[in-house]
Order: sequence, then structure tokens, then C-alpha cells
Amino acid sequence: MAECRLLCELALLIAVTASAARALPLHAAQRAGDQCGYKSCPATKPSMLNVHLVPHTHDDVGWLKTVDQYFYGGRNYIQHAGVQYILDSVVAELQKDPARRFIYVETAFFFRWWSQQSRSTRNIVTQLVQEGCLEFVNGGWCMSDEASTHYSSVIDQMTLGLRFLNDTFGECGRPRVAWHIDPFGHAREHASIFAQMGYDGFFFGRLDYQDKDRRMKTKEMEMVWRASASLNPPTADLFTGVLPNGYNPPPGFCWDQSCSDDPVQDDPALEDYNVDDLVSRFISISKAQAALYKTNHIVMTMGSDFQYENANPWYKNMDKLIHYVNAQQANGSQVNVLYSTPSCYLQELNLANQTWPLKSDDFFPYADGPHDFWTGYFTSRPALKRYERLSNSLLQTCNQLEVLGGPKSRSGPFGKGDSDTMKRAMAVAQHHDAVSGTEKQHVADDYAKRLAEGWAHCQVLVSNSLSVLSGSEVPRVFCENLNISVCPLTEGSKMFSMNVYNPLARPVSWSVHLPVNGTSYNVTDSSGNVVDSQVLPVSKPTQYIRRGRGYAKYELVFQVQAPPLGFSTYSITLLKTDVTPAEPERRAPVSMENKYLKVTFDPNTGLLSGLTNLETQQSVQLTQNFYWYNASVGNAESSQTSGAYIFRPNSSTPCAVSKKPDISTLQNSVVQEVRQQFSPWVSQVVRLYEGSRELELEWTVGPVPVEDGFGKEVITRFDSNISSAGYFYSDSNGREVLERRKDYRPTWDLTQTEPIAGNYYPINSRAFIKDGKAQLTVVTERSQGVSSIYNGSLEIMLHRRLLRDDYRGVGEPLSEPGEFGNGLVVRGRLLLTLTPPETAADSHRPLAQGLVLQPLLSFQEGAPKPTSKLEFSALQAALPPAVHLLTLSQWDSESVLLRLEHQYESGESKAFSQPVTLNLQKLFSTLEVLGASEMSLGANQWKENMTRLQWNPSDGEGVEPLWVGLGDPSPWEIILNPMEIRTFLLRVRQR
Ligand SMILES: *[C@@H]1O[C@H](CO)[C@@H](O)[C@H](O)[C@H]1NC(C)=O
Ligand SMILES: *[C@@H]1O[C@H](CO)[C@@H](O)[C@H](O)[C@H]1NC(C)=O
Ligand SMILES: [Zn+2]
Repeated sequence: MAECRLLCELALLIAVTASAARALPLHAAQRAGDQCGYKSCPATKPSMLNVHLVPHTHDDVGWLKTVDQYFYGGRNYIQHAGVQYILDSVVAELQKDPARRFIYVETAFFFRWWSQQSRSTRNIVTQLVQEGCLEFVNGGWCMSDEASTHYSSVIDQMTLGLRFLNDTFGECGRPRVAWHIDPFGHAREHASIFAQMGYDGFFFGRLDYQDKDRRMKTKEMEMVWRASASLNPPTADLFTGVLPNGYNPPPGFCWDQSCSDDPVQDDPALEDYNVDDLVSRFISISKAQAALYKTNHIVMTMGSDFQYENANPWYKNMDKLIHYVNAQQANGSQVNVLYSTPSCYLQELNLANQTWPLKSDDFFPYADGPHDFWTGYFTSRPALKRYERLSNSLLQTCNQLEVLGGPKSRSGPFGKGDSDTMKRAMAVAQHHDAVSGTEKQHVADDYAKRLAEGWAHCQVLVSNSLSVLSGSEVPRVFCENLNISVCPLTEGSKMFSMNVYNPLARPVSWSVHLPVNGTSYNVTDSSGNVVDSQVLPVSKPTQYIRRGRGYAKYELVFQVQAPPLGFSTYSITLLKTDVTPAEPERRAPVSMENKYLKVTFDPNTGLLSGLTNLETQQSVQLTQNFYWYNASVGNAESSQTSGAYIFRPNSSTPCAVSKKPDISTLQNSVVQEVRQQFSPWVSQVVRLYEGSRELELEWTVGPVPVEDGFGKEVITRFDSNISSAGYFYSDSNGREVLERRKDYRPTWDLTQTEPIAGNYYPINSRAFIKDGKAQLTVVTERSQGVSSIYNGSLEIMLHRRLLRDDYRGVGEPLSEPGEFGNGLVVRGRLLLTLTPPETAADSHRPLAQGLVLQPLLSFQEGAPKPTSKLEFSALQAALPPAVHLLTLSQWDSESVLLRLEHQYESGESKAFSQPVTLNLQKLFSTLEVLGASEMSLGANQWKENMTRLQWNPSDGEGVEPLWVGLGDPSPWEIILNPMEIRTFLLRVRQR
């Protein structure tokens, strides 16, 4: 007992002394100014090989456990991991020696931990940050996935994390380095975003094994990534480094409590004394590693997943390693080991004044072996991927309406609403095991639940705001299941109104399908004009999916228009006339057409057979069908299976679901439909709306049958007579488009080992093929995998249901049960355009934006009150077609964050790839702009303070600017150049 007590007192004494010793320099550090950032870097030895030990932990914001379980350390039987203890333990260990360093990455976790700390702990942590001992890297809410995320949500999640760090720690909390050690392939748009956020460098762990082999041989592990073909260098140039060992310590040097490598046993009297052995092994590993890199500095990542829950073994052994390895310098050793951080390592590379190879493509697809292509997750969990994208649309609307409705939006007639819940849920959903689809099922459910909570909070906010803007306090209903024809209000009501809020800065038209039980309706717009509408029977597949959740017999279909950044209101009244809506005819149509497009079908099979653009008189032969690849369960070549991450078909020839679907057709003045039933689990509606220039394909897939023992990866494939010659194009995070080529990589001589999976790439919004004359573009509403295997073909993976795990840690086969437990049913849309290549962007840019930020419909019972405002726009005029309003969000009580984006690439469009001038004071009709300050893309730095380290790319001599920039004509008038995003903090007052 006594002994124990003594020990406790001693421990207490040490703790007190440590924090007392810390208390003094706090003031000193403040007076001396920032000692963080590059100024806090440890001294190195110019004549030696400097080994930068970077202590770190990789804390997934959900994966095998939910984000809450990871934070607290719940359900440790699944995976031993508790982030709260990691931060507790590291903070205690850092205080013991000012030489020690630690980096922290995921603000989602740090923010929670911080909110639970006492003032004295916060002071200690603040001081550690100010001294550069604790450094934030990346600093977004999470470490985002790069394949399936959309740039607008990536920018938002980074902004959320970076803002917390700036608010809490000021300049010392600003990360200098982007750190994506785990994502499974790297998108060029991510690099562009990081560069524009002011990061000096970027490090990652995973790249194709062939690429890595080559880079090691040629010392090209570190490079300058030119991440935009439109922005003038070095705006989107980002120094990029491949870490030597993924993100793990070198073999034999893992001193986490979860590892079993031997500690440094330094009592020479011991049988197990191992200092000489460890030191010589470490020195030889260091020298071998140095041979792969260009300078006399190398980095070693000392940590891994959820490590440092007990930081003591790590630091105690690293202290000794540093001591004993450096002691060898007295004997002539040229190796110098030190505690460091990624930014300190980066600074040394910068000082080395080297030229670096230039990279301008991306790092997709990622393979870690000949049969191990991580291209399945581009499509995994297609419903979550769509829900995430739709949630972004609601979040942007919620943000805008919070600004436009003023303070009453947060607290108004419908209670308290907020955008924060959705901001955080969306930020968490960007994690590389969230929207990527590579988490366990219970974790996927948790992400969806968080988003649903975000929806509920936003819906209250939206209701409040719309009541302010419209003057109507009648409760609003948001029907979230319109895609399966479920909406109790419209199904039962004799008279209701529908508000269409358009978050885009240009007017839109949109087709709505409302579930109803009447057979004839009068629809009027905000000016009282009658709108053409039609009633169609609800299709069999829709009835099957919705089961008992709705009872509508019909869908009321009409076209709505909404003004920019505003709403219009439609009134819908049931008519007494007793007509029976026409049932679809059971026959294959020969063709359907409107003013712009003619679509032909093969009369024998009922499949699509051709597409004609009637404006340009271009025609292509075009067939489309659904197929499935049989998922590999491993074979003689490799035991690799298809799973949540990995796509590996067991044959290059997919099976057609059906060669001759059941067909029925429907034609009226609003829409023409061909309904194709391929099998009980695959159906499609081919739709041509009156007045639209694109063809809509609404596919429904699932439950994917697996009773035959075969996992299935379902694709739709377009086969055309376009001479695409192995080339196809896909977007990067929904923004710039990259050229892809079958069995080819721009930066190395590829040995293709998986003819299908090795040719898959991610798309977020669009893909196309083209020849000299025609371009066929497919615009999609969620992230998917895409490829072009045959000349003139384009295939998109829609759904996957698998029976095996793929040995990358998730430990579950990807077999989503869906709502009824028999397999997930997914419904989605593809929009198809046929245009000359020169004008393709003029249609696919606005189409894609329109699917990303789609109108929000809300319904009110009864007729609108005569006093209420039926139409509203917050803009003085629509923004020019090239300009996208990316962000309009309340920042604090006086300011709003505004991001304006030029949405065309340079040279992409004759009409729109031009600089555009906008006047910030003349944007809004309801907001008076009193002041504007430009910020970095991440909104954590004023633009004027933004300086980045300069690098020399190998062909950097006399970099030609792509265009000569003009200065803004005046502080209020700003110029946007192609692909530019500009971020402003506006001080505003409601007019
Ligand atoms: C960097 O290297 C270039 C030649 O490549 C040289 O002209 C320049 O002086 C060097 N700068 C520094 C700071 O060493
Ligand atoms: C960063 O935070 C500080 C307060 O810590 C604030 O004064 C400053 O304006 C913030 N910077 C930006 C760019 O928001
Ligand atoms: Zn991870």
C-alpha cells in the first residue's frame, strides 16, 4: 500500500513540475511571436543523412467501427481503437521533452476531444501547438476519399476543419502539408484544391505498384504535380511526395502497444541486449531508403492505424533510438536521426534547391498487385453514394436559405433549425471509408443516419426561411421518396402547392413526378398560367420497390421552372373529370422524338438502336444493355477475390441480363417513355421530355440475385459507332476532365494484368467518348466506375453484390441487405447527350451542375394565400452561364462566405471558356454588400497573406503562363478565369 502511495505521489510531483515548467514559457512564446510552422523545425546536419521520424496516428473517421465508437474506444472486440486516449496520451508524452513531435490529422476527432478538455489542458495543448511540438497536418474534418467525392463537398469538409483550427489556434493551427496517407488512389482535382488552399506540399502512401517500382528506380518518388490544365502555374502546382513505407514504420521498429517488435533493450548486462543490432539495422534501412530519394533527408512514418493509445512505449523507444543511432556519429556514422514533422521534412526538401519531375495526370487506378485493382469501390454502396450527393444538394440549399432568410431561419415558426448538423454529417461522409463504400455495414448505416439527422435539421431551417421569404407559415412537407412515388400529401390531397427552390445562380427547368390518386389535375405556375401536365400509371417496378410505403396509382408529370437562387410556387388542384389515364402499350416503339432529339429502338429486341441530334443533324448507332461480371472468388493466378475495394471479374465477358427485355411504351404531350423490363431485378425507363436536349435513362437494379453462388457486378454498356479508338474521358471529382486510354498510363509502360478491372476509372459526374465528329456524353448523379473496353463503347458500373471479402481489412462481403433484407434495390439516372465535340461542354457542364444542385421541392396543403409571395430570386440577375455559385453560407452574424467558380476549362468551349467579370455589389437583390475580403480556397487565410513555397519542376524553366491575367478592374469588380474559384468573406446587411 505504502509503496503504491509513494509512487502515486511521485507521479503527481512529476506531472506538476512538468506543467509548471510549461507554464512559464507560454508567455515567453507569446511575446516572442510564433515559434510554430517552419520556424519551429529542429536543426539538421547538412553533411549527413537526416532521418526525420514523424510520430503519427491514422484515425479513420469510421470504418470497422462508427466514428463515435472509434472516439470513445467502444466495441473494442471489433478493433482495439480509442481516439480520446490517443490524444490524452500524446499530450502527456509531448510535455516530457520539447524535442518530441506529433502530428494530428482529423479535425472531426480533435474537435470532440478539445471540447471535453479543461482549461488547463487546453492551455498546455495551445502551447504545444505554438511551439510546433503538436502540428496539424491536412486538418480537414477527415481525410477524404479521392475517387468518389465531389469537389464541392471536399472543399466544404476542409473548410470546416480548417476553420476550427484557425478559430482555436490562429496561425499556428494552420496546416502547411496535406496528408492523404491512406486513400486508395489520388485525384488530380484534390491536388488542385490543396494547392489553392495554400498547402506547400502533399504526402501519400498508396500508388500503383508498377508506378512505385519505377519511381524508386528513377528517384521520382517526389515530384511537382501540375494539377490543372486551366489554371496558370504555379497556382495548382503541388509538391507531392510518396512515402517510403505506406504510412508504417520500417520493419522491426513498431513500438506501439499493438505491435510486437522488440523494444530497445539497452542494459548491456541483459541476455536480450539489442542496441548494436537495432542501430545497425536502422542505419542500413536508412541508407537503403535514401538511395531511392534525391536529397540527404528522408522521412519515416512512426505510427499507423489508431496507434499511440499508449504513447509511452513509442516515445521511450524513439528517444533511445535517436540517442544510440546519433551516438554512432562519434565513430564516423553519417546518419542523423531526429524527431520531425512532415512540414519540417518538406522545408528541407525545399531548401535543397532541386529540380523535381513534373506530373500532370492522376494516380488512378490504384493496384497493389497484378490482380488487385482497387476499382470496385468506385461503385460500392451505390445508394449511400447517391444519398451523400443528394445531401450535398440539400446542404447547399440549407446554407443559402440560412443567409437569405436571416436569423429567423435558425429560430422561427417551425422551431430551431441549423445547417451545422448537416455540415458535420457531410464532412464525416467524405472520409475514405465512408462515401467510398469500404466500411462495415453497421458503419454505413451510421453515416446514413447522421445524414438523415442533418436533413431533419436543415428541413426546419428551410421551412423557417421559406416562411420568411414567402410570408406563408403553413407547414411544409418534404417528400424524400419521390423517386419511388411516395408522398402522402400529394397522394391524398385535392389541392396543394409546391415550392421549387433552385440553388443554382441561373434559371432552371426540371421535370417532376408526383405520386397521386386522382386522374386529372390542374397545375398553375406562380403567375397563374396553366402548365401542361399528364397523369401516368405508376410502373410495376416502382410498385415493387415501394411495397407498402405508398399507395399512389398514378404519377402527375409536368415541367417546372425556377428563377436563379430563388423559388417559384405551383398550385395543383384535383379535377372532377373522370378520365382513365392511358396504360402503357405493350409494344416496342420504332422511335421517339422531340424538337431536339430522335431516339430509335430495335423493333425486335426493344433495345436502344440510335440517337440523332436534330439540331446538328448528327446520328450515331447506339445500343445499350445491362450486363453482369461474375465476381472472382480467386483462381490459379491469384487468390484475390472481388470485394468492397477490389473489382476482379472472373471473366472479361460479362453476361447480358437479357437480350430482349419486355417493352411497353407511353407517349403524351409532356413525356415519352419506353419501359424496359430486363429481368425481375433490372428495369429501365428511357425518357424523352418535351423540350429537353438530353435523353434520360432511369435504371433500377436489385435485389441482385446471388442464390446461384455468383457475386455480381452490374454494368450498363453503350456501344456506338463512334471511333473512340481506346480513348475515353472522365471527370476528376466532378471538375476538370482527364483523358483515359485503354491499357495505357501516361507516366509509365503499363503491363496490363486485369483487362477489365485495370481499365476502370472513377467518375463523379460525367464520362464521354468522341471522334472527330461526335461526342457521346453520359452525365450521372452519383460516383461510379467507368471504362471503355471496346471501340465506341462506354460502360458504367451501377451496382455490386458480392459474396466474399477481399482481404483489405473490412472483413465483410459487400452484400447490402437493403430495407427488406433480401438485397438492396438501387435506382438512378443517366443523362445522355450527343453533340459535336466542340460544343459538348456547353451542355454537359450545366447538366452536371443541375444534377449536383437540384431543386428542393416542398409541399403545402391547400391553395397558397393571396398575400404570400409565390416567386422569389435573391439575385439581381442570373449569373453569366460560365459562372457557378459554389458557396453561399453564413459565416458569422455579419458575414457570409461566397465562392464563385468559373465552371469551364480553358479551351473547352468557344462560347464560355472566357474570362468573366462580376460585380460583387450587384449580385444580390436582397443583400447589401458592405465589404469584401478575398480568402484562400479553404477560407482559413486572407488571400493577400497567402505565400507558398516555390519549387522547380524539371521543365520549369520559363514556365509559359496559359493566359495573361488581367487584374480586377476595381475592388468590387472581379474577374474569373476558366476553372478559377474565388472565395470571399462578404460583410452584408439584409436590404
Ligand atoms: C539553386 O540552384 C540554382 C541552379 O540550379 C542556382 O542558380 C541557385 O543559386 C541555387 N539557389 C540556392 C539558394 O542555392
Ligand atoms: C483566424 O482566426 C483568428 C482568431 O484566432 C481571426 O482573427 C482571423 O481573422 C482568422 N483568419 C481568417 C482568415 O479567418
Ligand atoms: Zn484510413
